[in-house]
Amino acid sequence: MNNNKLKSNILSKNNNNTLNENNNTSNNTSNNTSNSTSNSTGNNANNNTNNTSNNNINFNILNENTNNGTNPNSSNENINFNSEYLFNDLIKSISNLFLKEVSTKNKDYRDDLSKNIVKFLTKTDDGSYTLNSFDFNDGESETMHTTTGAISESFEKFVKPLNLGDNDFSAFHVLDICSGFGYNSSALIQEFINNHGECNDSNLSIDMVELSPYKLAIGLLIPSPIESHDLIKKAIENKLIEKNLLSLNLVDFKISDNLDINIFIEDARIAVQNLHSNRYDAIFLDAFSPKLTPELYSLDFFKELYRVIKYDGIIATYTSAIPVRSAFILAGFHVGEGPVFGRNTGGTIASKNPNKITNSLDFDIERMIGLSDIGIPFKDPHLDLDSITIFKNRQQERADARGTYKISSAVKTPIFLDKDIEEGKLKRRVLRNLNAIGIEDTKSKEACYIIAPQNKDSSNFKNNSKDRVIAMSNNLESFLN
Ligand SMILES: C[S@@+](CC[C@H](N)C(=O)[O-])C[C@H]1O[C@@H](n2cnc3c(N)ncnc32)[C@H](O)[C@@H]1O
Repeated sequence: MNNNKLKSNILSKNNNNTLNENNNTSNNTSNNTSNSTSNSTGNNANNNTNNTSNNNINFNILNENTNNGTNPNSSNENINFNSEYLFNDLIKSISNLFLKEVSTKNKDYRDDLSKNIVKFLTKTDDGSYTLNSFDFNDGESETMHTTTGAISESFEKFVKPLNLGDNDFSAFHVLDICSGFGYNSSALIQEFINNHGECNDSNLSIDMVELSPYKLAIGLLIPSPIESHDLIKKAIENKLIEKNLLSLNLVDFKISDNLDINIFIEDARIAVQNLHSNRYDAIFLDAFSPKLTPELYSLDFFKELYRVIKYDGIIATYTSAIPVRSAFILAGFHVGEGPVFGRNTGGTIASKNPNKITNSLDFDIERMIGLSDIGIPFKDPHLDLDSITIFKNRQQERADARGTYKISSAVKTPIFLDKDIEEGKLKRRVLRNLNAIGIEDTKSKEACYIIAPQNKDSSNFKNNSKDRVIAMSNNLESFLN
């Protein structure tokens, strides 16, 4: 099918307004694949959310547990407290929707939750919505997107680095890891149409991987921030019907033949092991922060990403965390700075092909990655450890490495190698850390030897953080031996 057809088909509503009840008899009836609900208390502490007079189902649930906005266990009415209750109530409302729609085939349950869902969410600066998500055992939360603008971040940090306009392709394959509400994929589709609208033979295929059917359901129910998000909604609805979590075809859009959207509802670590090698032109990695989900930033997970991405493929992620960049390098990728948007630092771009990296890393960052304990990546050898174990193992490995085979990351010691440093407390700390590993002084010959790759002006090293990091790390190792 040509792309004009894609444009007209996918961005215009179906004329057929009848609701088709779905007779899907799929065997998979589990609605329990997420860890999102495991700690859900379902109590509601927020009266602001249930000021509706209609008798919709989700607000009936909320009303059951209303306690005048106060936490029975705490006098603290801070925002986090309220948002945790909102999160739990939303998950409970979606569970209820799953049960009711399948058993009654009545569309009112979905309509009601769609009408009211924004009350559970936070509006970001560009008008698109995010969720304060409590998916973690330790009671921590993170908003799913930057509050500066959720859909804007999708364009700026994930889609723009792909330079879609420069590509000449007949088929473009994208893996959207942690696809959540589907913002990144919808931004991609929008950009794809903008760039290839006139091209007849372009095909776009997106594999979305998301652990939680609840997050997908939210993506289905929220107001679409851009037109192409309606296509993602259609794909989500199809998937939730296939899984027997919903039963009605209510999304009035058709996905054209040259757009292929697959959704995998499972742990990305499992999903990636079943994907074909050398398939993807781009990968979006949009997990929660490395602190909360280190399993999605481990060296071993990145080795799988290395296997499935093409030589010219690009990985985009919003985080600039050092162990993440280190894991990319150790898995074989070249890395560079991604665009800055909504957060203090830019994201990270990774590719097998060094020519796909336009902005190499700062020299100080390269030293921290290659020479210090903070550059030790998260490890998950069989892709099955829980986040707490992965975190603790790395803490132990860092402690063992500090002062033995890596320079202490304290006071960013490696950045002072081959530099003059003023007398004082900082110098004393730096020297103590260097002496611990046998380096006498910041200007000593061994200090200069270790960071020599950063002084080379050869084309091999130009704009090539990976090679500099590895060469410095090797120099440290040979000095220690
Ligand atoms: C920062 S949000 C992603 C936002 C998303 N890209 C969007 O466009 O809305 C992180 C997502 O990762 C999902 N997630 C957490 N652990 C996962 C795992 N092991 N595999 C797949 N998805 C996971 C969460 O459910 C959450 O939806």
